[in-house]
Amino acid sequence: EFAKALEKGASGGGLDREDIITLLQALPGEEEEGLFGLADKVRQENFGEEVHLRGIIEFSNYCRNDCFYCGLRRSNREIRRYRIPLEEILAAAEYAAGLGYGTIVLQAGEDPHYSGAELAEMVRRVKEVGNFAVTVCVGERSLEDYQLIKEAGADRYLLKHETADSGLFSKLRPGTTLAERIKRLNWLRELGFQVGSGNMVGLPGQTVETLADDILLLKELDVEMAGIGPFIPHEQTPVGDSSPGDLGLTLRVLAVARLVLPKTHLPATTAAGTLHPKGRQMALGCGANVIMPNLSPASYRALYQIYPEKAGSKEDADESHGKITSLIKEIGRSVGSGRGDSPKDKFRE
Ligand code: 5AD
Ligand code: SF4
Repeated sequence: EFAKALEKGASGGGLDREDIITLLQALPGEEEEGLFGLADKVRQENFGEEVHLRGIIEFSNYCRNDCFYCGLRRSNREIRRYRIPLEEILAAAEYAAGLGYGTIVLQAGEDPHYSGAELAEMVRRVKEVGNFAVTVCVGERSLEDYQLIKEAGADRYLLKHETADSGLFSKLRPGTTLAERIKRLNWLRELGFQVGSGNMVGLPGQTVETLADDILLLKELDVEMAGIGPFIPHEQTPVGDSSPGDLGLTLRVLAVARLVLPKTHLPATTAAGTLHPKGRQMALGCGANVIMPNLSPASYRALYQIYPEKAGSKEDADESHGKITSLIKEIGRSVGSGRGDSPKDKFRE
């Protein structure tokens, strides 16, 4: 049955939910090797050997939400909150330009301190620094705010759906719903953004069926980017005692996502690199083609503790960049040039 599903994946024939569930349960050894090998081939055919770098600036760790899994949740009084002044954000972007980055990701918790106009201004100023694509990742906002951000020149928006199980979603993200999130993903698409979503693997209460639904939702949304990473428990949260997501399962989800979404950018996540020293390299061998190095100034990094021991949280931008370029070269791949836009026709220049 596994062989049949893999065969279907190889011939590009649409995998259905049952096939996806079968593939997600690939056994270590021959089955996993077959799945990972096929995902690697599909990645190679669609993206070649280039690994695109997206430099992230985590500009605020304030958040109005109280997600059960996240260290930045508003109930966590034990972290010091910060907002990086615009001048420092621009300095980080300047630095990224010097290193040849083609994309800057402006990421923050859901911080109501910033108006839509202020976020738009941030985007505009960052775009003046260099010839990069800008990705914004600041959570759920109004349609008007998204519009202002787009008009300011933002190219992409990242809003992970986190889990396709609507019950689990509302349990883990009190006061919010999967439907509201999907509504926003559709708005973002209509506004012309390249859209990113994604989910965590190994959330407490999640099943292999949920993970299949995650992949199917990403397909339905037709995303240009999908961030798939393991859940890592954070002590100062209500799910701090849960076990972390399994790296093998994370790699299988990534590999199946690559088969279902051949032209979607898939990052080798920092969370995978946190679970295992070679986690990101393994992910690059299972379909991933993007890495998102942290370019936040060193003084703020340790405070952006979504989960503990985040890979790179003790480095500065220079170290993170150096480590990541060498891990790419170690496995015989190259650092991507240009902006690394979606290869889909509608986003080609
Ligand atoms: N472990 C792994 N990833 C997490 N995220 C939030 N909390 C955790 C955690 N404990 C991810 C979510 C969110 C992104 C900012 O970080 O997917 O979208
Ligand atoms: Fe806020 Fe995002 Fe963390 Fe939820 S996951 S608490 S929205 S930063």
